[in-house]
Amino acid sequence: MKKEIKVVVTGAAGQIGYSLIPRLVDGNTFGNKTVNLSLVEIPQVVSKLEGLAMELEDSYFPNLGSINYTDNFSEASRDADWFLLVGSIPRGIVYNGKKIEERSDLLQINGGIFVEQGKAIGEFGNQNAKVLVVGNPANTNALIGRAAANNPSQNWMAMTMLDANRAKSMLAKKLTCNVSEIKKMIIWGNHSPTMYPDYENALLNNQSVSKLVNDEDWIDSKFIPSVQQRGKAVIDARGASSATSAAKAALDTVYACENETESGNCFSAAVYSDGAYDVPKGIMCGFPLMTTSSGEIEIVRDLNLSEKARSRLDVSIAELLSEKEAVKDLLTE
Ligand code: NAD
Ligand code: LMR
Repeated sequence: MKKEIKVVVTGAAGQIGYSLIPRLVDGNTFGNKTVNLSLVEIPQVVSKLEGLAMELEDSYFPNLGSINYTDNFSEASRDADWFLLVGSIPRGIVYNGKKIEERSDLLQINGGIFVEQGKAIGEFGNQNAKVLVVGNPANTNALIGRAAANNPSQNWMAMTMLDANRAKSMLAKKLTCNVSEIKKMIIWGNHSPTMYPDYENALLNNQSVSKLVNDEDWIDSKFIPSVQQRGKAVIDARGASSATSAAKAALDTVYACENETESGNCFSAAVYSDGAYDVPKGIMCGFPLMTTSSGEIEIVRDLNLSEKARSRLDVSIAELLSEKEAVKDLLTE
């Protein structure tokens, strides 16, 4: 087992970065490994990372290794084990005179970032590097990056853990239990308003959440739309896109990938479809995942999808296919 780990974080001077980076070195996410940080920003703000580096040093983190910061992504990528690709523009802001309303409006703005970063990860990252795309639209950005990396032994994911955590929170309130007791809470499809939070496979004490809730009206009119639109609700309330919950979800994803999944559970992230559950190959789709005892991240293949789940998932697949079509010029595999 490696005692040291190198983690690259882009968008390190942004909102998510500020909440995420200290917790990468706090001894929880990577256990007792020494964490070497490689922080990346655009040239205009890279100097601000000096302040973050000072704060990290001042925070008494026994697991903190080296801290490097740069605007040169290729240099940062060398021999890295983990890439947390946060750097990109959020929605809710005005860009080129236009307010960005939907995550998909970011396709053309952010997509290009992932071509260059993907190439560098494929060339300079570790052969078994894990890559988590947080920047929106996360699924299609990950598709672009993965194609540019052209390195199948690396593991590309897009984040849907935040959606799963939101779903667990709503279900725990409804069922008066702790969020940690909700298992197998999977988000299928795209990190967008078409995502499908699968309450039918979710479990509380090994019992179906769907049966325990026993309120289809609440599921259809409250639960599903609230999970799908929670990102917008946070932007409306906060005046900025979710940051501390997004950082926590990224940490939860890393933790889930670094540790064997407990039996009877699975976790949520979008990965490249190999045709599992009849999802067309070649899109990054939210699936149920597990980490094996040897550290492989695999799709869990034995969940049942009801007719309702299938038709909701099909809507999200259609959206992913149309996003793929919209960025076909960036898919440089
Ligand atoms: P932010 O604007 O506070 O920070 C983004 C940072 O990225 C900025 O500091 C910017 O300079 C940097 N950046 C831009 N282009 C870069 C590049 N090419 N290389 C390195 N850094 C670059 O935004 P934020 O709130 O931290 O959000 C970041 C992204 O995460 C947004 O796209 C947002 O929509 C997305 N997000 C995703 C989820 C999810 O669940 N997948 C949740 C929340 C936010
Ligand atoms: C979220 O779900 O909070 C993020 O994807 C930010 C957004 O634009 O909704």
